[in-house]
Amino acid sequence: MESDKNNGMSRTAPMLEAVNLTKRYDDGVLALDDLNLSVFPGRAYAMLGANGAGKTTTINLFLNFIDPTEGEARVAGVASHRDPLLIREKVSYVSENVMLYMNFSAVQNLDFFARLSGRSKGFRRDECRDVLRRVGLEDDCHDRKLKTFSKGMRQKCGIAIAVIKGAPAILLDEPTSGLDPKAAFEFMNLLDSLRAEGRAILMSTHDIFRAREIADDIGIVKEGRLVMQRSREELEGEDLEKIYLDYMSGLS
Ligand SMILES: Nc1ncnc2c1ncn2[C@@H]1O[C@H](COP(=O)(O)OP(=O)(O)O)[C@@H](O)[C@H]1O
Ligand SMILES: [Mg+2]
Repeated sequence: MESDKNNGMSRTAPMLEAVNLTKRYDDGVLALDDLNLSVFPGRAYAMLGANGAGKTTTINLFLNFIDPTEGEARVAGVASHRDPLLIREKVSYVSENVMLYMNFSAVQNLDFFARLSGRSKGFRRDECRDVLRRVGLEDDCHDRKLKTFSKGMRQKCGIAIAVIKGAPAILLDEPTSGLDPKAAFEFMNLLDSLRAEGRAILMSTHDIFRAREIADDIGIVKEGRLVMQRSREELEGEDLEKIYLDYMSGLS
């Protein structure tokens, strides 16, 4: 699918694409209802929405943690539930806990995940250290176990894994929740630099201010449906918080 809103990149294919994506859990809950969205290389997409709206479900479908009931979560054009190996190669999921080993140091985590994603020899220690420095983790914590890290430091370690894997797509579920303002600021700058390298970023957040700063496209999910989507340009001069609250209260 091509997008007119993609700022002169309209011939680029989406890196992440939800197509009629629908998820009904086994207990009958319709968590996602015919959701369509695209994230292009070099762009960041932020999903806003109340608790229970379906944001985590969307991310989990892209990660192939769960199967869709209908539709597809495509990564580089391929439905995630049809090619789990491709997902492992193309997608990095950055979260404070999932995927990181708390009893490993930062360097050991990086080396381990580099091997998992296909670099059979792993990385030289100095390569790992270079990437850790790039994401803002100073030398004195490279050999400390992850369990001694703050949430902000763990998130940075997650980003370091995405960098070292060279993953073209990065998924994040509420990445700034629980971070202090400085850590959130640093983390968003880091995401911005990854986007500038051409990676596609899909995140959920409750932080309207940060969403506005980082995202090229913003979508509001309500009861499993994408009820609004606008680009940065379309939101110019608009009060996103008011737009959001109007959707939540049913005024829009
Ligand atoms: N494993 C599950 N089994 C059944 N229902 C679930 C499961 N996970 C989430 N849900 C339900 O699906 C809906 C969407 O949840 P979720 O995707 O976690 O929303 P969000 O991340 O936007 O808060 C909610 O009604 C939630 O209770
Ligand atoms: Mg969630």
